[in-house]
Amino acid sequence: MGTTVFWMLPLLLVMPVEVRESSDFHLAGDYLLGGLFTLHANIKGIAHLNYMQVPRCKDYDVKVLGYNLMQAMRFAVEEINNDSRLLPGVSLGYEMVDVCYVTNNIQPVLYFLAKENFNLPIQQDYSSYEPRVVAVIGPDTSESVVTVSNFLSLFLLPQITYSAVSDEFRDNSRFPALFRTIPSGEHQIKAMIQLITYFHWNWVIVIASSDDYGRENSQLFNEKLKGEKICVAFQESLPVPLGNKTLMPAEKRRLEAIVDKIQNSSAKVVVVLSLDLALYDFFEEAISQNVTGYVWIASESWSIDPVIHGISRIQQIGTFLGISTQNIPIPGFSDFRVRQTPTGRPETDKKHSGPTCNQECDTCPDTLKSYNAILTHSGDRVAYNVYSAVYTVAHALHRLLGCNAIGCAKDTVYPWKLLQEIRKVNFTLLGHRIYFDKNGDPPMGLEIIQWQWDTGHDPFKRIAFYNPAQQYLSNVATNISWNTPNNSAPFSVCSNSCQLGQRKKPMGLHICCFECINCPAGTYLNQSGDFECQPCPPHEWSNEGEAHCFRRRLRFLEWREPATLAVALLAGLGFLGTLGALGVFCADCWTPVSVLFNLCFTLCMACITVRSFQIVCVFKMARRLPRAYSCWLRYRGPYASAGLLTLLKAAVVAAHVLLTPAGLTVRHDPDDARAMTLNCNGHYGRALLLNTGLDLALCVLAFGFAYLGRELPTSYSEAKFITLSVTFYFVSSVFLCTFVSVYQGVLVTIFDMAVTVVNLLGISVGYFGPKCYLILFCPERNTAAYFNGVIQGYTMRKE
Ligand SMILES: *[C@@H]1O[C@H](CO)[C@@H](O)[C@H](O)[C@H]1NC(C)=O
Ligand SMILES: *[C@@H]1O[C@H](CO)[C@@H](O)[C@H](O)[C@H]1NC(C)=O
Ligand SMILES: *[C@@H]1O[C@H](CO)[C@@H](O)[C@H](O)[C@H]1NC(C)=O
Ligand SMILES: *[C@@H]1O[C@H](CO)[C@@H](O)[C@H](O)[C@H]1NC(C)=O
Ligand SMILES: *[C@@H]1O[C@H](CO)[C@@H](O)[C@H](O)[C@H]1NC(C)=O
Ligand SMILES: *[C@@H]1O[C@H](CO)[C@@H](O)[C@H](O)[C@H]1NC(C)=O
Ligand SMILES: *[C@@H]1O[C@H](CO)[C@@H](O)[C@H](O)[C@H]1NC(C)=O
Ligand SMILES: *[C@@H]1O[C@H](CO)[C@@H](O)[C@H](O)[C@H]1NC(C)=O
Repeated sequence: MGTTVFWMLPLLLVMPVEVRESSDFHLAGDYLLGGLFTLHANIKGIAHLNYMQVPRCKDYDVKVLGYNLMQAMRFAVEEINNDSRLLPGVSLGYEMVDVCYVTNNIQPVLYFLAKENFNLPIQQDYSSYEPRVVAVIGPDTSESVVTVSNFLSLFLLPQITYSAVSDEFRDNSRFPALFRTIPSGEHQIKAMIQLITYFHWNWVIVIASSDDYGRENSQLFNEKLKGEKICVAFQESLPVPLGNKTLMPAEKRRLEAIVDKIQNSSAKVVVVLSLDLALYDFFEEAISQNVTGYVWIASESWSIDPVIHGISRIQQIGTFLGISTQNIPIPGFSDFRVRQTPTGRPETDKKHSGPTCNQECDTCPDTLKSYNAILTHSGDRVAYNVYSAVYTVAHALHRLLGCNAIGCAKDTVYPWKLLQEIRKVNFTLLGHRIYFDKNGDPPMGLEIIQWQWDTGHDPFKRIAFYNPAQQYLSNVATNISWNTPNNSAPFSVCSNSCQLGQRKKPMGLHICCFECINCPAGTYLNQSGDFECQPCPPHEWSNEGEAHCFRRRLRFLEWREPATLAVALLAGLGFLGTLGALGVFCADCWTPVSVLFNLCFTLCMACITVRSFQIVCVFKMARRLPRAYSCWLRYRGPYASAGLLTLLKAAVVAAHVLLTPAGLTVRHDPDDARAMTLNCNGHYGRALLLNTGLDLALCVLAFGFAYLGRELPTSYSEAKFITLSVTFYFVSSVFLCTFVSVYQGVLVTIFDMAVTVVNLLGISVGYFGPKCYLILFCPERNTAAYFNGVIQGYTMRKE
């Protein structure tokens, strides 16, 4: 006894003796491949766990596709053996076992691992152990692959599955010896989502079988939907019939309810993620309830199932689309498929020390024959996966045995050595490159197929291709025939897309379900599918529910507007009044247009100020500074001052006009959002301040002087009128400033004009009015002598 303990307890697999043995399941050879196929299928019953027996697959129904795949393996091995180039001088053999869906996995694995004498030694190191087979092809479902793989990985025995899509197989640490020749389920789900997106469907029903396949794939589907604009209307799990095939009443009611729910839904696209067995009853129920007009999207598990395709009247329930592996025709296979096993086959089977169970299928050849036409027309899809799996092992053996054109070294093949070579294979088979990426996945594309029922045509017609590397559909057929009255693709959307100018308001939890709400005025939406409206640019506006903004209508004071007319009328009156006064005075003071309007007003104010100055100071100056008074008189003081002040104002106004950017300014009309007001002056407040500042200063001056003059002789009481006019001007200016600061719009312009006009009128009437009265009606007081008299009287009184 050393440190290594060797256990040599033989595990004896006692096989129930089967009398009949079909040589389809065995082929002797230098190196054997194990093949696991589902020839008989029934739902995973747990019945066989109740009694200590290996389940008898032949009690179940024949699964014709499984037998087709087994034939593909037989064909590949025979072709490799016929071909003298790949493995010259070496013959491949096989051992195939029916796993009958998932019920019979463990027993075949033990059979493959055991030696010829059915012994499976228990030992510490299996690196120099030589099991019965060098590699295993299969099985088909992910669930059984997990079981088988757990055994095989202990021996690092290479396993290549041809149709198990589960994503968990990409985990190298859990499945170190597993490869597959079918793209992973993730790609199938992505292809489905691309298909749904392509036809603008966003409201789909998901039906998944209540087994591992359905659960895993529906979960994957929901995961991959994140970020896509596709919503699941509802999801249902199909009851998987138990035990015998008869439908239990509870299951029947459940199916009825599901079909009911599908019919009540507005969704017209049904994604069916299920193994084929759960689907027969479901579709029978749908047909009996006269379901029609749906699009059924098939997962690869049933998309090319000839039995479901053959259910009578199934084409009535809608259009069938499906995801499938590529159709790569295998030359010669359709003849081989139905070829009878030659009688008088060499008695290689006699080498078996004992038959194993589930290696028989009496009815398979006949069932296959009855489906031969559809199988021939539907091409080789999964069959190519099996075919390429066998070739993969052959290529790996070719390298491991160091084959050349003449022969190979017929060494012992240890599985772990073969595994290393399988990882490295890279060869072309029927025009397609075969190799495995680091996850054990092949570089294979997927096809979108449509079911057809015309005899003599491919029942699973390719309508698009999906490349996993690029992740989008290509070569989509334009002439897809839909099973709808006018042959147009059905709609399956939760809410119809909103029109332009409408935003979506979410309804419930789904992003696909929404109400359409008109965008409020001032906002727009020029693409459908947004939840928010866009605000219009500043100078634009939109009506409610518009897709575009329009430029706001320009509003400015037009001649024909009543307000303009009224102001103009007032101005005209004022002008007439002033003219009248002018006529009376023959003085110079003209009336206004635009910028000049202001200027004239200033001139006018200046005149008034100077006049009030004159009134006040003439008396005081004449009294106190006689020389200055004479100077004032000599240099025409009043005119000079008025001219000076007018020039100052002209300079201010000119500076303002020059400094302010030229052109019109627009601003929003607070009353009518569709319009913009047009102003001559951009910065109204500043302009107003500049314009009125000087005038106000003059005003204050005039006011001050007038106040000083309040004590002057009553005939000089015009000071009072000046005070009145100026006060009026003052008040209205303050009022105007307040108005401008709180309100913007066309009214401001009108108001500004009106205030100016009214001011002028006030001055005309308030200041010149009394004078005119004096001149017109009291001519006797309008003489220089009278005034002189008054002045002298005042001066003397003061003294
Ligand atoms: C292999 O060769 C035999 C004998 O030539 C032939 O009958 C058979 O059809 C060949 N098989 C394949 C798959 O090519
Ligand atoms: C099979 O179906 C029959 C008839 O419906 C039923 O009586 C029987 O219980 C079923 N067997 C099992 C194992 O469920
Ligand atoms: C389907 O609609 C019918 C009639 O509106 C109703 O009676 C039935 O309960 C609905 N079924 C389901 C599963 O919602
Ligand atoms: C389905 O249609 C057939 C023939 O049109 C009719 O006899 C049958 O009652 C319908 N079944 C249902 C469930 O509506
Ligand atoms: C397989 O071989 C081809 C041609 O020899 C080569 O271009 C390709 O890169 C190889 N692929 C891999 C994955 O090694
Ligand atoms: C669609 O077009 C392809 C080639 O353009 C043709 O082979 C096919 O028969 C057409 N299918 C139908 C349904 O018209
Ligand atoms: C086809 O018919 C459906 C309903 O029967 C209708 O909604 C759709 O607009 C029609 N399509 C065309 C292109 O006429
Ligand atoms: C939508 O409006 C934006 C901004 O006005 C513009 O850039 C874009 O081109 C418009 N899109 C369409 C489809 O009219």
